[in-house]
Amino acid sequence: MTVLALASVKASPGVTTLAVALALTWPAGEGRCVRLVEADPDGGVLAARLGLRADPNLATLASASRRGLSAELLIEHGQALTRGVHLLAGSVSPERMHASLASLRGLHDALGRDASTDSIVDTGRLSPRSPVIDLARQAGMTLLVARPARDEVEAVGHRAQGLREVGCAVGLVCVTTRSAYPVSEFADAAGIELVGVIGDDRRAADALRGDAALSDRGLARSSLYRHAADLGIALAERLRPRAGGRVGESTEADRAGRSL
Ligand SMILES: Nc1ncnc2c1ncn2[C@@H]1O[C@H](COP(=O)(O)OP(=O)(O)OP(=O)(O)O)[C@@H](O)[C@H]1O
Ligand SMILES: [Mg+2]
Repeated sequence: MTVLALASVKASPGVTTLAVALALTWPAGEGRCVRLVEADPDGGVLAARLGLRADPNLATLASASRRGLSAELLIEHGQALTRGVHLLAGSVSPERMHASLASLRGLHDALGRDASTDSIVDTGRLSPRSPVIDLARQAGMTLLVARPARDEVEAVGHRAQGLREVGCAVGLVCVTTRSAYPVSEFADAAGIELVGVIGDDRRAADALRGDAALSDRGLARSSLYRHAADLGIALAERLRPRAGGRVGESTEADRAGRSL
């Protein structure tokens, strides 16, 4: 149903980490799922980070879907991350990812057709020339993730403008500490709507990479998770089609997130 794209301009600000945190805290609601899609043309890291198998992945999906992309194929080439969260991992090979993303023209439509599943798509460094630009153009929103530094303003503003010109609905998420360049000033200077803020939280980020031990409770209480949960609620509210009067409905369990 809802398709949300996450992207960076440069400098690895934490897109993949945010994509995982959003997927694990997403307010999907009863009977609904969330699909995390690693569509980074530079190659995937999530299977390794999360201790999953390298295959199946987006490249095996591309090979299998030459005659059309069905909901069954999406499920078949994904892996369960935790209850209600499915991962369509990227291949580690940039060459395979470029070729696969170029051939998966109907990926957005296939994701959007699945009425019970919202999709969070990590598009990596995104420019109008990216092989995943069509998906970003069709997504409900494309969030640029950036660290608010004065020397990043122009690059982020320029990229946002370029993406808007090809039809992306662009918003900004800042990964920041309180002492950094004020996020609202950064967003104004870059000419882009500030949609959310994610705390700079090394411990939780390391835990999501599998590089540090943190209990489920510790993760649920981390500023990274709490910010991701708040952002997810705001985005689901904003992007979900308004049908049946249960728009963006979330529960305490949604806010606490799911464990890996
Ligand atoms: N909110 C955060 N707070 C602190 N550290 C973070 C945060 N998000 C990510 N990191 C750390 O920053 C590094 C890059 O994170 P990540 O891989 O998510 O970035 P990316 O933007 O996806 O990078 P790439 O361009 O390589 O795809 C990792 O070491 C990660 O643990
Ligand atoms: Mg990444």
